[in-house]
Amino acid sequence: MSILSPVLERSLAAVARPRRTGRVSRMVGFRIDVEGIEAAVGDAVRIYRHGGVLDAEVVSAYSSMLACAPLGDITGVRCGDEAEALGHPLTVRVGEELLGRVLDGLGRPVDGGAPLDGLEEVTMHGQPPHPLERDLVDTQLALGIRAIDTLIPCGKGQRLGIFAGSGVGKSSLLSMIMRGTDAAVSVLALVGERGREVNEFIRRDLGPEGLARSVIVVATSDRPAMVRVRAAFTAIRIAEWFRDQGLDVLFMMDSLTRFAMAQREIGLAAGEPPATRGYPPSVFSLMPMLLERAGISDRGSITGLYSVLVEGDDMNEPISDAARAILDGHIVLSRRLATGAHFPAIEVLESISRLEPAITTPEHRRMAQGLRALLAAYRDAKDLVEIGAYVRGTNPLVDRAIELQGQVDAFLRQDLFEVAPLMESKMAMSALMGGSLPVGSVAGGVLPGGSLPVGSLAGGSLLGGSIMSGVTPARANVANVLGGGQG
Ligand SMILES: Nc1ncnc2c1ncn2[C@@H]1O[C@H](COP(=O)(O)OP(=O)(O)OP(=O)(O)O)[C@@H](O)[C@H]1O
Ligand SMILES: [Mg+2]
Repeated sequence: MSILSPVLERSLAAVARPRRTGRVSRMVGFRIDVEGIEAAVGDAVRIYRHGGVLDAEVVSAYSSMLACAPLGDITGVRCGDEAEALGHPLTVRVGEELLGRVLDGLGRPVDGGAPLDGLEEVTMHGQPPHPLERDLVDTQLALGIRAIDTLIPCGKGQRLGIFAGSGVGKSSLLSMIMRGTDAAVSVLALVGERGREVNEFIRRDLGPEGLARSVIVVATSDRPAMVRVRAAFTAIRIAEWFRDQGLDVLFMMDSLTRFAMAQREIGLAAGEPPATRGYPPSVFSLMPMLLERAGISDRGSITGLYSVLVEGDDMNEPISDAARAILDGHIVLSRRLATGAHFPAIEVLESISRLEPAITTPEHRRMAQGLRALLAAYRDAKDLVEIGAYVRGTNPLVDRAIELQGQVDAFLRQDLFEVAPLMESKMAMSALMGGSLPVGSVAGGVLPGGSLPVGSLAGGSLLGGSIMSGVTPARANVANVLGGGQG
């Protein structure tokens, strides 16, 4: 017999067991208010509407009322519909089987492939590596882009932003990197893209070879804001799982701006005040929560690349500004180069990798600085040269820059389907800075035969014949690591 009175027992039981079912009490825009249930911010809530269910996530709470953001189309939801607290945050399935798959923002397959039943289920709330336990970024990760690998090198565990206006080649650059990187696994979050672009990206730009070592999480612009935000967290959670298997993972997001815009919708609907350019404060606290998840842990690494939309060349727009402050460097793509058919349209002189000194040799840096000096000298003298007002012999650096301009230009260009292995890129930079391009001197690569007249390499065939291999030695390791060496 219990020593507690029945009344006290009932009250204790009520406290211990949160109320699970309640009702939809109000709907304003894309916010659904639910009353009568107990759930924490971040928990999932299921709404039973006529003809089906709608899941939502709790974004804020005012005494007994919960404001929820829908994770699907809200058509058909009425006040009074039953709501159930699921008692936990959203989960995502993880495992090696995700390689080659395309998932929606909540981690469900959208490619018509096999269901993910039986895979491990984890909550979306991963932890960033502890600040004091993070290993230092000290090793370069090859991205397979000549201009980046030599002049804006990226370290394993580093986070770089790709800043560009619309249509100057952000997505194309990301697809080139996915095909060319040495990272064992790539995870890509496509957030807020147009539906048409997703298929184009996967089928045409990425191709089966790029997809085989990748996981793609897609939430197009027509999906609810919460799904677009969750897509980024689903993707980083999947990247964390692969990292925890001991792999070097490349996490990419296109675009960080659209992620911020989705959070702006959620924050404003939940009643936050608009602050900078309409972005509520939660946008600026959520960005580091996502960006800090990349880095090196004691098991593996996540290197992060995030595209940032810069409209009207306004680099001080709040999202670019916040991103630049958090990230470890930026790659700037310009419309000037894109309209001149110079791809990838990387403005080398405006781009910087803050960790370059930690991941490159003094020799690499010396050559990269020399190349940057040539680019700067040519840029400054370009107008004079073009109107014929520059007199050769006035400045030896400008003379050299003019002499090498065609070769430097060709070195920086890279065709969409050309893969530039890191070693070949370094050798090519070395050859360029040595003043000549000795034919056939590039280890593992094939230089074009015959002479190399200035400007003859436009189109990026400096390393013509470089292999579209996709599977580098580092990538080949993935099977061994995941298969416990049995692969
Ligand atoms: N390396 C390249 N070689 C040749 N053409 C390229 C290359 N990169 C980009 N392009 C061209 O630039 C166009 C725009 O590229 P992309 O769609 O990647 O831009 P974006 O910045 O992602 O655009 P949006 O802002 O609309 O998402 C492509 O259709 C393609 O023609
Ligand atoms: Mg794009």
